[in-house]
Amino acid sequence: MKSDRPNASDKSDRIWQPKILAFLCNWCSYAGADLAGVSRIQYPSNIRVVRIPCSGRVNPMFILKSLQNGFDGVLVSGCHPGDCHYISGNYVARRKFAVLKTVLEFMGLEPGRVQFSWVSAGEGEKFAQVVTKVTEDVRALGPATRLVKSRESLKAES
Ligand code: FES
Repeated sequence: MKSDRPNASDKSDRIWQPKILAFLCNWCSYAGADLAGVSRIQYPSNIRVVRIPCSGRVNPMFILKSLQNGFDGVLVSGCHPGDCHYISGNYVARRKFAVLKTVLEFMGLEPGRVQFSWVSAGEGEKFAQVVTKVTEDVRALGPATRLVKSRESLKAES
């Protein structure tokens, strides 16, 4: 079956850019991204942001679906432990993601494709560093093909 996704040989024909979905907590990481923006701190433009109320709101299925639907990597970023707006949402998230990482590894997915971080509203510089690191890690891994669905199967689902 022919894949719709670029493969490693495509990298020589044109410059492949990783596509990364970032789930950012409204109260901290999203504000950190905003601060990076207003402070004009440069970071790769490879992320597409989904603003979420809390990192605890991220269902692991969102991450799997993102990888199935063509994203090469996923970042989830929330408030630092102890700073969650909803008291314990990020502790719940941390536990969920620890289990998810094991499942993803079992499925054969490279560990660097899904990353988690804690970035506060005052850490614009850190946000830029996290995005840069995630982008470089995913770029080094190449296009995600392990879980991706073909265009035909996506059409059949809709
Ligand atoms: Fe930010 Fe819970 S409100 S992680």
